[in-house]
Amino acid sequence: MGCQTCTQQQEGGSILSSFPDKASELEQHIDSLEITHNISRNRGHLIHCLHKAQELFGYLPEDVQLLIAKKLRLNLSDVYGVISFYSFFTTNPPGKYKINICLGTACFVKGADKILKEFEKRLGIKDGETTEDLKFSLGGLRCVGACSLAPVVIVNGKVYAKVDPGMVEGIIKDCDKEQK
Ligand code: FES
Repeated sequence: MGCQTCTQQQEGGSILSSFPDKASELEQHIDSLEITHNISRNRGHLIHCLHKAQELFGYLPEDVQLLIAKKLRLNLSDVYGVISFYSFFTTNPPGKYKINICLGTACFVKGADKILKEFEKRLGIKDGETTEDLKFSLGGLRCVGACSLAPVVIVNGKVYAKVDPGMVEGIIKDCDKEQK
């Protein structure tokens, strides 16, 4: 069974109406901030609100962006500009399996970039993207504090240590096994 977020996304509905509790938590959160007619001041709340929204929904679809823009009295383009500037923010729904490759220095010098490329090749997506079936999403991370295990890959919290490109297929298969 797919997750509720994925089903909602596949059906193309509004994420806010699909998750009214989360939508109201986001609204209450923004309402607790000091919103004024001073646009530049409101803009100061933007990153914080986007973090909160992504924490709640896992990504930032357009209806969430619109809500934040309306509440902060900003243009949608202001909101989108910040989302596209910071790689942390994503407008893609997360996959069921979030594959994160540490791209910190210790992992990078031990070939993390080759591991990322192998995942990209096998899954047919790029860093920051999600497969069409919403099963896998791929992303790079900064140092996760496990440099002695470099290169490190984390899949939904499960840590794979000393990974090399030859292990990528097995990691993807592990996700398939878990699904059965
Ligand atoms: S650089 Fe990857 S765990 Fe530190």
